[in-house]
Amino acid sequence: MGKMSGQGVMGGKESTVRVGDLTVGKASFTAFCASCHGYSGKGDGPAGATLKTRPRDFTDCAKMTPMADAMLFNVIKDGGAASSLSGDMPPWKDAFEDPEIRDLVAYVRFFCKK
Ligand code: HEC
Repeated sequence: MGKMSGQGVMGGKESTVRVGDLTVGKASFTAFCASCHGYSGKGDGPAGATLKTRPRDFTDCAKMTPMADAMLFNVIKDGGAASSLSGDMPPWKDAFEDPEIRDLVAYVRFFCKK
């Protein structure tokens, strides 16, 4: 846990390991996800409020901590339906490359600050 979150190793000349970058993740999240998930990740975005299955509260550590990074990654990449969640969560594989999805996972994790 926690290995993929936090600021990446960006200072080095060339880093082979690229972990999620919060700044990039935040920019993507604000542009594409906040309408449903809310700017503070609480699932209170204006579009999210109209859905049958409301987006989860990402600040709820009790719910979010047990979810594996791979699970979050897959839901973002392939959409909710592919993971037996609500199909209102769209797949983003055409919009983001895998490293960008990892940035989003890092940012989603950031909402639970414990
Ligand atoms: C159209 C509204 C909508 C948009 C836009 C959207 N989501 Fe979701 N998302 C949902 C809903 C609804 C769920 C809950 C699915 C469930 O619990 O059945 C969900 C679930 C998730 C989950 C799985 C964790 C959980 O809540 O169970 C993650 C991670 C996630 N979204 C991230 C993102 C990211 C990152 C983006 C932007 C790239 C995004 N979402 C954009 C509606 C949306």
